[in-house]
Amino acid sequence: MNLSNFLNSQNYNPGLKEIILDIQAGSIQVYQQLNEAEQDIFGSSGQKNVQDEDVQKLDLLANDIFIRIFRKNMHIHSILSEENERILTCDNDGAYIIAMDPLDGSSNIDVNIPVGSIFSILKNTPEGFLQKGSQQQLACYVIYGTATMMVFALNKSVFGFTLNTKTKEYNLTHSNIRIPVNGNIFSINEGNFNSLETPVKQFLDYCKQLGSDKKRTHTGRFIGSLVADFHRNMLKGGIFIYPKTADKPHGQLRLIYECNPIAFIAKNANGESTNLNTSILDVKPVKIHERSPFVVGSKNMVARLLEFYH
Ligand code: AHG
Ligand code: MN
Ligand code: MN
Repeated sequence: MNLSNFLNSQNYNPGLKEIILDIQAGSIQVYQQLNEAEQDIFGSSGQKNVQDEDVQKLDLLANDIFIRIFRKNMHIHSILSEENERILTCDNDGAYIIAMDPLDGSSNIDVNIPVGSIFSILKNTPEGFLQKGSQQQLACYVIYGTATMMVFALNKSVFGFTLNTKTKEYNLTHSNIRIPVNGNIFSINEGNFNSLETPVKQFLDYCKQLGSDKKRTHTGRFIGSLVADFHRNMLKGGIFIYPKTADKPHGQLRLIYECNPIAFIAKNANGESTNLNTSILDVKPVKIHERSPFVVGSKNMVARLLEFYH
């Protein structure tokens, strides 16, 4: 079943349906840039973003693609993007606002490793983008990997669609995704080991213990694209950890357009997330580009890590 037929078969809000179709359209353009582009899409744009990070050419291309499409959607009131310091207000007085990381994992573009796009859709309320993640109406990511896939959480279920690159259609391939309650994958940048808090170090030691059969009990996997690391852990069972570090006291990932949508998808797939103090989805943001420590994945693995804090 293709995405349009699927949406027609569901009793979703019409505005949210149109937003999903817009993400479909934009992601196919990003896919085409990645796979069929004749222009040079690699490398740095020479600019820095609001978080003083190097902006890649593809960050800007993806940002432009999605903004151009969302601006025409009468259901969207405003857009918050990682690549724009300020909120962009659309001409339409739409019922929804959309926060996005148009290109996640951009340091991986030049080396042919999966990247993604992440979207968080909220109602247009007086709080604007500073709403708790639990208020999200729809969360979605696209992973441009060995296959291009769109995953979204809506009405308490998570679905995955895979792009048929010939027909340029997304087809339903993953119905009602559930994160395994137990897992054996841990995903963390261990280059940060010496600046981790003791409980995280203890959890990593626990993951590295051998079983009575002398075999490893866990396996380490870290791609460096949140979307790809989460996607694998969601399907196979695992935990993704990006805690605060000595030089990043608030962690690396952005609360509103990275942590929240991934946490919302995890929750609707029976997974768990935390900032190591409270559930991510219960955090009230103070700033649109604020960062947060982020842990997400299999329920029992997240619980095990939190035990080291208690
Ligand atoms: P972005 O490309 O949107 O800036 O996000 C990169 C993020 C995330 O995808 C990844 O998990 C993390 O940064 C990797 O950070 P390190 O290089 O510190 O491991
Ligand atoms: Mn990102
Ligand atoms: Mn990004």
